[in-house]
Amino acid sequence: MSVAALQLPANLALSSLSAPRQDFIRSLPKAELHAHLNGCIPLRCLQELYRERAASSTSPLPEDDVIKKGLDLLERGAMLNDINDFFVIFPKTIYALTSNIPAISRATSAVLESFLSPGVTAPEDPPQCAYLELRTTPRRTPTRREYLCAVLDEVEKYAASQAALIVSVDRRMAMEDLDECVDLAIVLKQEGRRVVGLDVCGDPSQGDMATFAPALNRAKASGLALTLHIAEIPEYPTSDVAALLSTRPARLGHATFLDPEAQELVRRDKTVIEICLSSNLLCNSTTSLDAHHIQYYLEHDHPIAISTDDTLVFRNTLAGEYALLLAQPPLGLGLSEAEVARVAAMSMDARFL
Ligand code: IMP
Ligand code: ZN
Repeated sequence: MSVAALQLPANLALSSLSAPRQDFIRSLPKAELHAHLNGCIPLRCLQELYRERAASSTSPLPEDDVIKKGLDLLERGAMLNDINDFFVIFPKTIYALTSNIPAISRATSAVLESFLSPGVTAPEDPPQCAYLELRTTPRRTPTRREYLCAVLDEVEKYAASQAALIVSVDRRMAMEDLDECVDLAIVLKQEGRRVVGLDVCGDPSQGDMATFAPALNRAKASGLALTLHIAEIPEYPTSDVAALLSTRPARLGHATFLDPEAQELVRRDKTVIEICLSSNLLCNSTTSLDAHHIQYYLEHDHPIAISTDDTLVFRNTLAGEYALLLAQPPLGLGLSEAEVARVAAMSMDARFL
């Protein structure tokens, strides 16, 4: 099934727009600042990796039928009940297919191309974005350093004005893994590799962010900018909000359920909010665009960065995310072209260049 045929909110918003308005969105200079590498692998690339591994006698796939089922689910457009469903898709399907360096290199190259090359969805289309900050959690494939170097080798094929890497750490990590990843990010930056920031991601119901704060401060002191997933679920602990905000991050991912006090702090510090509308709608962390926290930040003219999060899982594009701003209600927020251009400029201003 083609992506356009899937009845997803961003597709519906984009296809409701006239051709000139779609062109307006596509031609706006914009930065994609919240994209997870393994969540953004083009489906065709993942299917190719599967076919090659399935045909290989030297590296057979573990749990072949589980992977096949996962791929079929991704192709149909994964139906998620909530954010928890999302976290089960990664380990058994995606990571099983990107478990060696050649596969990581191919997947990274395909992700970069999907965002930065022209003509990806239609021959006349400009690139999805002018600039991409891709993020990924270093896996032992076979070592964390080799994993990150393979990713960086691909990122650095593009100009520094086009692409950079954010190293993610996962909330479920043990302290020694957290320290190893942060140290690695710092060392790679010092070696002149294009690492610009550090992210905290992963299942929001796991981990204690007070224990993460010292490592985050260490990364910041070494010149890495911080972007932290925060308050993605209603029951997100206020102690985690306090611990993460104490590091004074430059940007926050989602920030869906921040309480008014935390929102005040965010506004005081002009912390950029990375807004992923499709992700929030499809994970049911928001009921509608009307109820979405983007409204609060738009009302206060606060910096935001519209992003896709996981294009493989949500089957979205950056143009589709911007269409959710421009399309008339109920498909979109009904912003004017000038307002949408301002939001796109905000994303360019929020880059960790
Ligand atoms: P990776 O870091 O390149 O392996 O990208 C996939 C990982 O990103 C997944 O294992 C998730 O833990 C994480 N991830 C992707 N999207 C989100 C999100 O919206 N919230 C928290 N974590 C996420
Ligand atoms: Zn995310």
